[in-house]
Amino acid sequence: MTHFGNYEEVARNFSWAISEQELDYQPGQVINIGWYCSDRICQQGKADKVALIWEGFTGEKKIFTYNDIRVYSNTFARFITDLGIKAGERICLFMDRVPELYIGFLGILKTGCIVQPLFSAFGEESLFVRLENAETSAIFTQRKHVSKVRKIRDKLPHLKHIIIVDYDGKSPLQERELAFSMEKSEKVEHYEIYPTYAESPSVLHYTSGTTGMPKGVKHVHYSLISQYITAKWVLDLHDDDIYWCTADPGWVTGTSYGIIGPFSLGVTQCVLDSGFSAEAWYRFIEKNRVTVWYSAPTAIRSLMKAGDEIIKKFDLSSLRHLASVGEPLNPEAVNWSIRVFGKPFHDTYWQTETGCIVITNFPGMPVKPGSMGRPFPGITAVILDPNKHEPYPEPGRIGLIGLKPGWPSMMRTYWNNEEAYRNKFRNGWYLTGDRARMDQDGYIWFVGRDDDVINTGGHLVSPFEVESALLEHQAVAESAVVSKPDPINMEVVKAFVTLKPGFSASKDLELDIMNFIRKKLSPLAMPQEIEFVDSLPKTRSGKIMRRILHAREWGEEVGDTSTLENE
Ligand code: WTA
Repeated sequence: MTHFGNYEEVARNFSWAISEQELDYQPGQVINIGWYCSDRICQQGKADKVALIWEGFTGEKKIFTYNDIRVYSNTFARFITDLGIKAGERICLFMDRVPELYIGFLGILKTGCIVQPLFSAFGEESLFVRLENAETSAIFTQRKHVSKVRKIRDKLPHLKHIIIVDYDGKSPLQERELAFSMEKSEKVEHYEIYPTYAESPSVLHYTSGTTGMPKGVKHVHYSLISQYITAKWVLDLHDDDIYWCTADPGWVTGTSYGIIGPFSLGVTQCVLDSGFSAEAWYRFIEKNRVTVWYSAPTAIRSLMKAGDEIIKKFDLSSLRHLASVGEPLNPEAVNWSIRVFGKPFHDTYWQTETGCIVITNFPGMPVKPGSMGRPFPGITAVILDPNKHEPYPEPGRIGLIGLKPGWPSMMRTYWNNEEAYRNKFRNGWYLTGDRARMDQDGYIWFVGRDDDVINTGGHLVSPFEVESALLEHQAVAESAVVSKPDPINMEVVKAFVTLKPGFSASKDLELDIMNFIRKKLSPLAMPQEIEFVDSLPKTRSGKIMRRILHAREWGEEVGDTSTLENE
């Protein structure tokens, strides 16, 4: 039985108070996500239930019960408190998907500090701008990533502690570095959790925009109210489920639905800390008897590419419910999953800023392949006229996806950037920055983004950030970054570059620049192609017109070029 009944009926009767009641939360009371995800589950008699089944890339396996994650997150929290770090300070997690990442996340929240998870694949420049902007006090990392922190620590006066979670004593610790072992430290059975309230800040996730550097999306502890109920209803999580979310907690899916949602429900989840391989993924599902699987279109397209034959080698009959997020889920992918798994992937649409799923195909609701589905009850989603910022009165028109602010996990601001935050609202609507249309039945169909942000394999890349990094390469005079089509990732990064005098275009130079970006930013932000040009299209005021380059890549009409400098 799904938790979700008839859509109209549920939507009519919905109130976030349903979630508050299930969580025994009364407005005005203390609410702490760290406590809800561990101590409360133990108090419900599930201390010995498995919370986390973890498998590393070498095949190593670890299992943690809810009592283990309660005690270990206490151990983290005590360590942080003993360092003298105070509630409200930012603490970064910069690790692969090791157990410390999941448990440390809860530990930081227990101290009242704000947790800032960042992809371990980030290079030093991506790491630097985010730590600088958040004025982060401490970073938990692994030996293999500490060299990146060492390169930038001198430019980060706020960063007081660099904590290595797998220190082996081999090379000496350097300035500001400390060793902390979650499993070898003395276990902390009791830790007095910091009394956070609904509006106390919890998580700071950095996301890319078109202009300026990445913005820190500030969430609060009250976000739990949305994350709990959406995880339960949309992902259809039940007490006996084995859940697998393939997202990294450096990304909001990996925290809202890879930590907070499942742990607050007391569900068993598994984590695979290794790169993509169809064989390894299917084996992981078979071995762990995964029942609910939350993944992303790029991964699904890669599985499709691996072919149907390989699927026959595995017993995947445990799978009960499949969901996807992050990019448009093409109808072919939905039809493929019906064919090979006997059930569709259910699309879910949301953003770092929304904190929870806002538009989705609910379990039990007929799926229209290619549509994102319908608004989650409690969320008012409309299609706005892009000029007037008023909802279109009739279905079928393409416009901007607007949301009525006020649900519990809505971002509270962009860190140190109120102006960018205010800019996201028009006429009382929160602008998602995406375009879509709604059909007669209220289903919403994604059309595209309304800005230049590149969505490559579900990861948002800011063209501005890549352009800025390109300019730091000795050969680059000017740069413009757009997306180009790709069969698996939908979009990949492409850079147009003019060279400084004395440099000439070559394959070697292209590779050198690619490598430079990969190391500085991340493999995701690395251009898959660099085109060397003599000049870039600019407006008369000297602004580079990415729009023209983008249209050329996608074989689209270029549109109005009347403001173009060299016309
Ligand atoms: C895109 C990810 C089409 C969209 C949770 C959005 C999607 C951005 C979908 C947010 C979907 C997310 N179909 N596009 N189902 N889900 N997107 O902040 O452009 O990393 O604005 O959060 O991804 O990406 P973010």
